[in-house]
Amino acid sequence: MRASCIYYSFALFLFLNFYSTTAQPPLTNPIANLSTTWSNTESLPNSFNFTDGSRVRAILLRGSLETKFACGFYCNGTCTSHLFAIFIVQTNSSGGITEFSRDFPKVVWSANRDHPVSYGAILNLTATGEMVLQDADGTAVWTTNTTGKSVAGLNLTDDGNLVLFDINNSAVWQSFDYPTDCLLPGQKLFQGQQLIPSVSWTNWTAQKDLFSLQVTNEGLFAYVGSNPLQAYNSYQVFGNDTNTGRRYARFLNGSLSLFILSVEPSEPDHLIDVPQATHLQYMKLMPDGHLRVFEWQPNRSIWNMVADLFDEYLEECDYPMACGRYGVCSGGQQCSCPVTTSTPKIDYFRQTNDRQPNQGCSELTPLTCNATEDQVFIELENVMYFSRFADMKGVDKET
Ligand SMILES: *[C@@H]1O[C@H](CO)[C@@H](O)[C@H](O)[C@H]1NC(C)=O
Ligand SMILES: *[C@@H]1O[C@H](CO)[C@@H](O)[C@H](O)[C@H]1NC(C)=O
Ligand SMILES: *[C@@H]1O[C@H](CO)[C@@H](O)[C@H](O)[C@H]1NC(C)=O
Ligand SMILES: *[C@@H]1O[C@H](CO)[C@@H](O)[C@H](O)[C@H]1NC(C)=O
Ligand SMILES: *[C@@H]1O[C@H](CO)[C@@H](O)[C@H](O)[C@H]1NC(C)=O
Ligand SMILES: *[C@@H]1O[C@H](CO)[C@@H](O)[C@H](O)[C@H]1NC(C)=O
Ligand SMILES: *[C@@H]1O[C@H](CO)[C@@H](O)[C@H](O)[C@H]1NC(C)=O
Ligand SMILES: *[C@@H]1O[C@H](CO)[C@@H](O)[C@H](O)[C@H]1NC(C)=O
Ligand SMILES: *[C@@H]1O[C@H](CO)[C@@H](O)[C@H](O)[C@H]1NC(C)=O
Ligand SMILES: *[C@@H]1O[C@H](CO)[C@@H](O)[C@H](O)[C@H]1NC(C)=O
Ligand SMILES: *[C@@H]1O[C@H](CO)[C@@H](O)[C@H](O)[C@H]1NC(C)=O
Ligand SMILES: *[C@@H]1O[C@H](CO)[C@@H](O)[C@H](O)[C@H]1NC(C)=O
Repeated sequence: MRASCIYYSFALFLFLNFYSTTAQPPLTNPIANLSTTWSNTESLPNSFNFTDGSRVRAILLRGSLETKFACGFYCNGTCTSHLFAIFIVQTNSSGGITEFSRDFPKVVWSANRDHPVSYGAILNLTATGEMVLQDADGTAVWTTNTTGKSVAGLNLTDDGNLVLFDINNSAVWQSFDYPTDCLLPGQKLFQGQQLIPSVSWTNWTAQKDLFSLQVTNEGLFAYVGSNPLQAYNSYQVFGNDTNTGRRYARFLNGSLSLFILSVEPSEPDHLIDVPQATHLQYMKLMPDGHLRVFEWQPNRSIWNMVADLFDEYLEECDYPMACGRYGVCSGGQQCSCPVTTSTPKIDYFRQTNDRQPNQGCSELTPLTCNATEDQVFIELENVMYFSRFADMKGVDKET
């Protein structure tokens, strides 16, 4: 008995000793205290250049091998403008960011995509518990507006959620409540929130009045436009409404689950299948209106698209704007401009860019609204509008 006690304590001693000599302190902390400021300059120690031209200055990092979350300043290309963002990076065994030439940071949230900041901008976690992003010229471009809410600190969680927590460790503000164009595993998209894609692959600005993904009392809707909102894809739910709380869609391992009428832990009202995750996934509403899921493939060191969720229902031509403004889409995204089949045969549109027909068509004679008496509707034959739920009540050929 005594012998085994000695044996165990000896082993423990060895283990502690081993641990303290090899484990280094984390390269950055996942938690920050109040009254901390970070300036978007070389003063931030965790600055890295990636070979695709993107650069990060990490502020908080939850590293420990493989794909992990970091938050900080992000830029790409000329780097004249920066986002305060959460991004996925590869980390090594001591928690540092790595793989600069193979896996490039994936931005999954940002605070200021409509107001990028310059070199020298400051993120200020104030003594009063508010997080403020100030551009180099001193303009406040973003704030969490949490002064007076007993904030105790800032935590970047394992799930990639940036949380201002209070003295009782409850979340006072969290990035999951302000989604941009992505959802992370476990994250909920609540009614009243929306995913909005960026303008393009290279411009992070949020699209204005184009695509969005939203939860309503009736289901999950992918919309185009804003006035009126028109659904180009929808998952409607029917049944008894037992939900007195907030309705949401939740990105889970294996599905995007709708809890519109029912409440967790009961079964969701509807499941949109997502391949089960072997590694980290993220879901993103793309600039062209596709809702895609990407998964990290460690053996090939790439992010793979594992699902294009609307593809079960939509062909390429069913996506609004597949052929740009006024474009007509046929077959496998063959784009053309509307032509009249009636006589006299007059062309009203021409391609905006001859080489890139998917950029749409422009009017040869711009319409104005003050000459309505001179205007008539012309029928286009054999053309379908994408919208199945168009709010076009009261509109007909004679309007
Ligand atoms: C935050 O404050 C706590 C308690 O005062 C301290 O233990 C911890 O080291 C601080 N963290 C940082 C990142 O300064
Ligand atoms: C990143 O590249 C910029 C521009 O070439 C350079 O000024 C900066 O020092 C580099 N940073 C790191 C961490 O290598
Ligand atoms: C960064 O920009 C380069 C070209 O400017 C582009 O090839 C690359 O995909 C961009 N990276 C991201 C993550 O957008
Ligand atoms: C991990 O990466 C950091 C840079 O982010 C580097 O300083 C550190 O030496 C690396 N650690 C190991 C064990 O490779
Ligand atoms: C951070 O905010 C506090 C309170 O608003 C202010 O007093 C302080 O000067 C700010 N720090 C920086 C570096 O701007
Ligand atoms: C901040 O919150 C207060 C009260 O909660 C509200 O009146 C104010 O409009 C908010 N300001 C911003 C910029 O959101
Ligand atoms: C920070 O987040 C982690 C989850 O990733 C959690 O375990 C931890 O309790 C949180 N810390 C605080 C202080 O909220
Ligand atoms: C923290 O919890 C205590 C005890 O439950 C409560 O009295 C207090 O109001 C809470 N504080 C905040 C800021 O929620
Ligand atoms: C990005 O798009 C926005 C909105 O269309 C535009 O105002 C802005 O100039 C664009 N930025 C760049 C760098 O092209
Ligand atoms: C809905 O609720 C009513 C009354 O509680 C019940 O009679 C009916 O069978 C329920 N319908 C469904 C589809 O569960
Ligand atoms: C997702 O679920 C599958 C099946 O239960 C499991 O094997 C896998 O580890 C899960 N993935 C993650 C990332 O938790
Ligand atoms: C419509 O009204 C505007 C401003 O009142 C005027 O400049 C324009 O010429 C008018 N267009 C037509 C086609 O009458």
